[in-house]
Amino acid sequence: MESLLPTSLILLHKWAPRPPQRNNKVDAESHQGNGGALHVHDFAMVEVEWLVKNATYRPHCYMCFTDNHSVRFIFSARPPAALPRCSPWTLLENLRAKMVNSTELDNSLMANMTLFTDQDPELVYPSQDVIWKTFEQCFRALWGLVTYAPVFRDYYYQGLSQFYRDNVMYMEVRALLPEIYELDGSTHDPAWTLKTYQEVTRQFTAEHPDFFGVRMIYTIHRGVNASMMAGAVEEAMKLQRDFPDIMAGFDMVGREDSGRPLWYFKDALSLPAGRGVTLPYFFHAGETDLEGSEVDQNLLDALLFNTSRIGHGFALLRHPVAKGLSRKRGVAVEVCPISNQVMKLVKDLRNHPAAALMSENHPLVISSDDPGMFGSSGLSYDFYEAFVGFGGMRSNLGSLIELSINSIRYSSLTPKQQQKALALWQRKWDTFVSENAF
Ligand SMILES: *[C@@H]1O[C@H](CO)[C@@H](O)[C@H](O)[C@H]1NC(C)=O
Ligand SMILES: *[C@@H]1O[C@H](CO)[C@@H](O)[C@H](O)[C@H]1NC(C)=O
Ligand SMILES: *[C@@H]1O[C@H](CO)[C@@H](O)[C@H](O)[C@H]1NC(C)=O
Ligand SMILES: *[C@@H]1O[C@H](CO)[C@@H](O)[C@H](O)[C@H]1NC(C)=O
Ligand SMILES: *[C@@H]1O[C@H](CO)[C@@H](O)[C@H](O)[C@H]1NC(C)=O
Ligand SMILES: *[C@@H]1O[C@H](CO)[C@@H](O)[C@H](O)[C@H]1NC(C)=O
Ligand SMILES: [Zn+2]
Repeated sequence: MESLLPTSLILLHKWAPRPPQRNNKVDAESHQGNGGALHVHDFAMVEVEWLVKNATYRPHCYMCFTDNHSVRFIFSARPPAALPRCSPWTLLENLRAKMVNSTELDNSLMANMTLFTDQDPELVYPSQDVIWKTFEQCFRALWGLVTYAPVFRDYYYQGLSQFYRDNVMYMEVRALLPEIYELDGSTHDPAWTLKTYQEVTRQFTAEHPDFFGVRMIYTIHRGVNASMMAGAVEEAMKLQRDFPDIMAGFDMVGREDSGRPLWYFKDALSLPAGRGVTLPYFFHAGETDLEGSEVDQNLLDALLFNTSRIGHGFALLRHPVAKGLSRKRGVAVEVCPISNQVMKLVKDLRNHPAAALMSENHPLVISSDDPGMFGSSGLSYDFYEAFVGFGGMRSNLGSLIELSINSIRYSSLTPKQQQKALALWQRKWDTFVSENAF
């Protein structure tokens, strides 16, 4: 694989990336030729500050407090019906009008939608159970904001902008395609939502010709029962047929350890093959540090269901057969370093299993999973962690190039599209290298 690298670049050992900048200024030096981000979730793409400072400042935004100190939102033309276990709805506009200074309120709303904490995270999140519970609470808190049609569009556009500013040129987004609602309470179906993603993507690529595009992986929560899963697979096949350009395939979300194993859904997952329909799978599998549980079988089952990539694959080293198969078939592992660290699978990234996979030349890509939730943004933070964390002392510009090219090579793009994307990538990379005067 090293033949892809110009030798002059391989020799550049001294080059070290600086941590990406936190501000929003376009900073040529933080552009690291990131390539594609292949594992990112729909409602955790954007920094939560945007949700609070933009979405909650729109008119008709109501909020209530749940009995366990979280918040819920809804946009409504008329006062909405009360939610169980939540205080009466308050119109945020009125609440803020009564305050001298709403900075503290805004900060507390942000704290409701991200895992980021000013305190010692070891104390706030003593276990995986606690952090996963909080993670799910955060999603519920932002749900009413992001599923409101006007916010939904702008949120996605904002997400593309944040990744684009981070020099990401292509994305594959895990999308729940939930019911999206309007101010009058009317709702839209998944086809409308996917079509909206397609329209906004087209608008964004028209305005940013050096952005290659986005494809969507339809996801459903793994907590559903077998018949719901069958329904979701049917829906996915329909969307795949109707939107072949933007639909990449199907996956499940939610904590693997507390959800049902892939095998439980074998009938639903066999539907496409049984009908001779192609529905590519991109399963999260092996996002666990438990060994020998039912869920620990997911890696092998994902491969038996011909998964195109493996989300996380944190447990892969403990499954030599699955590891061998994944390597033989070129099924790349989507490694999300910050996510694994925040969700308490690994404390010190030097001990991340990807270090071993990388040293064996196992196909892998780097992605950022839920940057908004983790208080980071875009993709560079994860590249940085991969580079200095498990890249080891011999990480060099070549490691970055390899990972960056992998994000095109292991994407769901057709070989012809990949060639085009690689040509675009090469142009951007050359500019990056010459601007930084290596
Ligand atoms: C939110 O962002 C949108 C799109 O960028 C912009 O048009 C709108 O004015 C912003 N609204 C607020 C309240 O900041
Ligand atoms: C908090 O309350 C909501 C309902 O309002 C419930 O769904 C959720 O599980 C509770 N979370 C915790 C951590 O108790
Ligand atoms: C509002 O309060 C925050 C701290 O809570 C403070 O930093 C900020 O300066 C205040 N803003 C105004 C306009 O007083
Ligand atoms: C969520 O926001 C409410 C309202 O401002 C606040 O009282 C509560 O402490 C926040 N919860 C978290 C977990 O930050
Ligand atoms: C599956 O879940 C759905 C929604 O929660 C429910 O309506 C349905 O009855 C369940 N089916 C079975 C067989 O349990
Ligand atoms: C996986 O691929 C093999 C070989 O192409 C095929 O025979 C099998 O039916 C596929 N399995 C599923 C579940 O799609
Ligand atoms: Zn994920």
